[in-house]
Amino acid sequence: MDQNNSIPFNRSSLLGRELEHISRTMNIGQIAGDQTYSKRCHALLEQALGVPKVMVTTSCTHTLEMCALLLNIQPGDEVIVPSFTFVSTANAFALRGAKIIFSDIRSDTLNLDEQQLESLITSRTKVIVPVHYAGIGCEMDVIGEIATRHGLAVVEDNAHGLFGKFRGRWLGTFGCLAAQSFHETKNITCGEGGALLINDTRLIERAEIIREKGTNRSRFFRGQVDKYSWVDIGSSYVMSDVLAAFLYAQLEVWQTIQAQRQRIWEYYDQHLRDWASERGIGCPVVPAHCEQSYHMYYLIMPSLEKRQALISFLKSRGILSVFHYVPLHRSPMGELMGGRTADCPVTEDRSNRLMRLPFYNSLGIDDQDRVIRAVQEFEV
Ligand SMILES: Cc1ncc(COP(=O)(O)O)c(C=O)c1O
Repeated sequence: MDQNNSIPFNRSSLLGRELEHISRTMNIGQIAGDQTYSKRCHALLEQALGVPKVMVTTSCTHTLEMCALLLNIQPGDEVIVPSFTFVSTANAFALRGAKIIFSDIRSDTLNLDEQQLESLITSRTKVIVPVHYAGIGCEMDVIGEIATRHGLAVVEDNAHGLFGKFRGRWLGTFGCLAAQSFHETKNITCGEGGALLINDTRLIERAEIIREKGTNRSRFFRGQVDKYSWVDIGSSYVMSDVLAAFLYAQLEVWQTIQAQRQRIWEYYDQHLRDWASERGIGCPVVPAHCEQSYHMYYLIMPSLEKRQALISFLKSRGILSVFHYVPLHRSPMGELMGGRTADCPVTEDRSNRLMRLPFYNSLGIDDQDRVIRAVQEFEV
């Protein structure tokens, strides 16, 4: 197969003034963090989402680690995460010594099953971490009500969900904290990067300190203290302004990016949903009260064997499709946390059967037609 003619699963592209902003930040000599472009990213996101404080970071993984530090997670604390998620959702809290409690997912949206939540809460539970899978909102009203009743923090892992909404409200604005990803596979990217959204303003000052190696350097730069020193634990979570310049170029055209992705998602859906349902294949379910972020398009095949066969079939036609999360409760670390087979049956089932189709901002109609035709040629 001619590699030039192949369709990757993901492809990064310049979507706006990335190079112009990067050369500007180099020319003015601002390549460390928290300078003009980082501040622009903060202001843009704060304004677009109505979040009191946003801080760009080195990754969503690091942002989740910051959340665990900010919430003072201690050995023995319990944190509830869906088993169907990326390892960082759990690892960030495990790093602080927390015990990870795995929840199963809903069979429709593949989000944390809020109906199970209460049965997983104990006197040691500290945090619930909903993941808005594929940028489709978790049932945040139910999750929020349960968290409030039990005095628990909610940290949204919003890696997929930037600019999605639940009941008209932006994803990332429900928890006391939310973590964004700007990894190259995300709708809006700078290669590697993230952001912390702080909805509980009481956490802002300490977040600045944790992000700056446990020092009050941010207060020093604002002239609020005459020298900075080590005041808390922390690490190095500040994004370079070179990356922030790239990120800002994408953020300033976020509506265009989202509209492009909506077109791609809807085109897949128009051409594949009927074909799929006639063959017992599932497509994403977007409840009426959710406005999704158009992060991915997936199929849920009738079996693991059929999923693997379709991935190979597409590959033979130069099209790269991929499966997704392997259940965390069945991973070696998850088993150490007490995870056992069949603890999260929906996660195990969907993990075996789900596959994602190529989806990136520059995916053109001709290539998308090729993917759709190839999928439809597959004998299920
Ligand atoms: C749900 C979820 N959380 C966290 C992450 C980690 O993001 P990052 O690569 O920015 O650390 C990912 C990565 O794709 C993810 O899918």
